Amino acid sequence: MQAAGDQNRVTEFFEVHSENYGDFFKEDTRTGASEMFRTRLAIVAGLLAGKTGALLDCATGTGEITQAVNASGRYDQLWANDVSAGMLRAASQSIQPTHEAEVLRFINRDIFTIEEEPGLPAFDVILCLGLIAHVGRLDDLFASFARLLGPGGTVAMQTTVADQLWVRVARMVNNRRVAAGKLHQIHYFDIPSIEAAAAKAGFRTVAVRRFGVALPFGDKLLGRLNHWVESRFARGATRHGGDAVLIFERKPA
Ligand SMILES: C[S@@+](CC[C@H](N)C(=O)[O-])C[C@H]1O[C@@H](n2cnc3c(N)ncnc32)[C@H](O)[C@@H]1O
Repeated sequence: MQAAGDQNRVTEFFEVHSENYGDFFKEDTRTGASEMFRTRLAIVAGLLAGKTGALLDCATGTGEITQAVNASGRYDQLWANDVSAGMLRAASQSIQPTHEAEVLRFINRDIFTIEEEPGLPAFDVILCLGLIAHVGRLDDLFASFARLLGPGGTVAMQTTVADQLWVRVARMVNNRRVAAGKLHQIHYFDIPSIEAAAAKAGFRTVAVRRFGVALPFGDKLLGRLNHWVESRFARGATRHGGDAVLIFERKPA
């Protein structure tokens, strides 16, 4: 289980990064990482196009993906949550209603306490993107999603793919940085273990989309070449991609 001290480190890390995290989504940011973030956005918005009802983003970051999903469907309510106040401030600029009747709520909570928030609806769609690497606790998350969603509700989850070749290399280096106290604990999952956790909580897998070459520290080591690699191959890396978006549906009780 994630200890409180670890979460404080994670929160501080993202509080610092909230200043420039949104740059990943700008077309003129020409790095491999930014290509992967924009690919993530396009895949999630595409897979969820046409959804309606109530949308919850567990960890909205600076809100670009939340807004892309919002714009790809027609929601009555959008709840954008993040543990970082700085991220949430930025998200409140990115996220806008897509029609007059849409209600927006911005919540500054640790996602593991979201069920204490008053007035929660039964959600139709939950986004959980870029979160599990930092908090782990997959079983707790899926159990909470099962309670938060109405029957037939959808979860979109993004993960780094633990057993992809290049991710394995990055893990070795990151583990050394964690051991040296330079980085908070990063949690890695392979796709079967995420699907197993989802199934245990009563979800069925609807789609798995892999993407991204994910060369380890590619932007640092290769500079513009890494941008070229990802812009050329990120979307096409559907079998060996280092990242994945998974869509789950809550089975009827
Ligand atoms: C890598 S960013 C992902 C942002 C966005 N979902 C995306 O895909 O670009 C991770 C986000 O998770 C948030 N976060 C970390 N721990 C959290 C927690 N326990 N509850 C809610 N948000 C959390 C961070 O503040 C940060 O905004």
